Amino acid sequence: MTNMKSILVIHGPNLNKLGTREPEIYGKETLVDINEKLITLGKKNNIDVQCFQSNHEGEIIDKIQAMGQKNSGVIINPAAFTHTSIAIRDALLMIDIPIIEVHISNIYKREPFRHTSMISGVVLGQITGLGIQGYMMAMEALIGILTENK
Ligand code: DQA
Repeated sequence: MTNMKSILVIHGPNLNKLGTREPEIYGKETLVDINEKLITLGKKNNIDVQCFQSNHEGEIIDKIQAMGQKNSGVIINPAAFTHTSIAIRDALLMIDIPIIEVHISNIYKREPFRHTSMISGVVLGQITGLGIQGYMMAMEALIGILTENK
């Protein structure tokens, strides 16, 4: 158990409203559905998955500081903070594990203010526009990376 790898999944503001929030953009699945799928995929690969959502920038930063180093990888959808938060970028810079940025919608196809990600320059990679599937792909990628580094 002690050697079990773990992945931290961080969801930013308003993602707790998935399912009812602009379903034409974000789909009908809820955050609970997404988390369950990620946890199930983790279990199949003997990886513990911890999911966290907050509407508060400071809480996300606290979580990254407290949990980042204790995990083997991070999946983060900072939602609207993607486009504004140098503080989340700085927090991510302090953790030396693979980080994948996920967006449900294609941020580059939307309003110009969504075209900039403050964090894309400090993560391993970004998946954008593939819906909920993007989270699963990020998880598969991390599992591959963590298994290679076993
Ligand atoms: C989002 C895209 C952001 O621009 C937006 O503010 C979100 C969700 C996405 O997953 O597509 O809340 O990160």
